[in-house]
Amino acid sequence: MEANIVLLPGDGIGPEIIQQGQRILAAVAQRFGHTFQFESHLIGGIAIDQTGDPLPDATVTACRNAAAVLLGAVGGPKWDDPTAKVRPEQGLLKIRKELQLFANLRPIQTFPELVDASPLKREIVDGTDILFFRELTGGVYFGESGRSTSDGVESAYASMVYSVPEVERIVRLAAVAARGRNNRLTSVDKANVLEPSRLWRQVAQHVMSEEFPDVQYDVVLVDAMAMHLISRPRDFDVVVTGNLFGDILTDEASMLPGSLGMLPSASMGSDGPGLFEPIHGSAPDIAGKGIANPLATILAAAMLLRHSLGLEDEAKAIEAAVRAVLADGLRTADIAGGSPSIGTEEMGTAVLEKLQA
Ligand code: NAD
Ligand code: IPM
Ligand code: MN
Repeated sequence: MEANIVLLPGDGIGPEIIQQGQRILAAVAQRFGHTFQFESHLIGGIAIDQTGDPLPDATVTACRNAAAVLLGAVGGPKWDDPTAKVRPEQGLLKIRKELQLFANLRPIQTFPELVDASPLKREIVDGTDILFFRELTGGVYFGESGRSTSDGVESAYASMVYSVPEVERIVRLAAVAARGRNNRLTSVDKANVLEPSRLWRQVAQHVMSEEFPDVQYDVVLVDAMAMHLISRPRDFDVVVTGNLFGDILTDEASMLPGSLGMLPSASMGSDGPGLFEPIHGSAPDIAGKGIANPLATILAAAMLLRHSLGLEDEAKAIEAAVRAVLADGLRTADIAGGSPSIGTEEMGTAVLEKLQA
């Protein structure tokens, strides 16, 4: 297969982890006889510095023409002034919207080799396997927002808006995924307080009873879900939720496998290229030190092969290589629990060697 893959390294640890992701994709191409062309483009703070725009047109065009996109992370203290007109994060939100990537798949799996990296007890986390569907192009992230001043008092607002079709399409995707797994779907909302959540619950209920009566379905309020997620994570199979709740719950869920540095994600639309990225950010506290965990990005590269290129065997080969490296006891600092650790590039090399073996 020939495929053109766009790389968006971005800021902070972004370039460090994308470099490892690219090495792994190149190794897969070599082993399985594919040709992947890589093209790097600007997004985020580095794009603001070089062009004034967090998402230059050239980046959007390249992404549209790509088979898939692999993204590092955007943002950092340099661009964090709350009064700034342009922000790195706008670039990420805009590319998700431009490519209509409404479904963000965030798998949360504990690796048996890594159970002790979790701050939670082994008997609680061992065997966790949850697939989150986070709605990605709607909700409070994209509603009307702004500031106003009245009687000398300044206020700011952001509206949470969901339409019926927006809820229908993400719930359908999640329900189809549940059928291919353990046939259970949990929808998470805040319907006791928020009107868009009441619409969400109504629509989800309707889709499930009309189209998926065979799938076990339940609803949980988001505050309670934050608790259930770490007290009984194994009870969940597929979880579907809105943009903001999905963002927060999946960072929390990263403590089940033990580190944000282990969690990949896939952002998909109805057609066109998917965008694949770790769920973590640019980690300014460790950027440039060569110690970031590249495994989330490497696992995102596996999701890219599976979901955008249809290369299941190749995806599995990467995932097996990652597990083999963990079984060998190799750890970056975030999952080492104070024991000796290796750096970003060494971890990339270790996965590469397993792939080539
Ligand atoms: P963060 O995810 O960057 O970091 C949170 C903590 O996790 C830090 O201590 C960091 O060192 C650690 N961490 C994250 N990834 C790691 C990895 N691969 N290996 C080892 N440790 C890792 O979140 P933050 O500090 O709240 O945000 C920093 C910046 O990143 C902000 O500007 C934010 O907007 C941005 N951000 C971007 C994305 C994205 O591009 N998708 C996602 C989240 C945050
Ligand atoms: C993520 C990030 C982004 C989000 C930010 C950087 C816009 O936290 O990808 O999880 O909130 O979606
Ligand atoms: Mn996030």
